[in-house]
Amino acid sequence: MINNETAYDIVELGDPRLRQISKPVDISRMDELVPVLTAMESRMRERGGVGIAAPQIGVLKQIMIIASRPNARYPDAPMMQPTVMINPEPFCFSDQLVALWEGCLSVPGLRGRVTRPDAVSVRFVNDSGDGQEIRLEGFPARIFLHEYDHLIGKTFVDRVDSVTDLVTDKVYLEQMVSLNR
Ligand code: NI
Repeated sequence: MINNETAYDIVELGDPRLRQISKPVDISRMDELVPVLTAMESRMRERGGVGIAAPQIGVLKQIMIIASRPNARYPDAPMMQPTVMINPEPFCFSDQLVALWEGCLSVPGLRGRVTRPDAVSVRFVNDSGDGQEIRLEGFPARIFLHEYDHLIGKTFVDRVDSVTDLVTDKVYLEQMVSLNR
């Protein structure tokens, strides 16, 4: 596997790979995922992400990491254990919807206000190959739904109700309190 500076770099909006449907992972060949997971984790960390999906590093496989924690880009994010989800399947979406501002490593410099369910249950395979089922609520649910969109060829830009729900990072961070009112 190539492991230089440009391999697995972040793919940005406009790259056709962000419009593809990702393929399920063959979980009998989990070993092959190690370099992909390592790259996803390091790209997420170095860019201050709270989640990442494999298509964002150009790998069209159903893999994501959700890893909420407070940082400069998301000062109010709750702390959670980073969770690798392979072949995730969402079900049981809450009726309650919530509008929240999202950012994306593949859409640098922009935030968008997106309405999504406040809670969702997920079946997935973890990085040890074990089947899991969890209920996510609030910000972790939001991260999951955002990352899941990447696996079906969508970004948050597709989900905003209106172009007035798009602002720059700078404006977002300066006006966060009033924007979240
Ligand atoms: Ni994203």
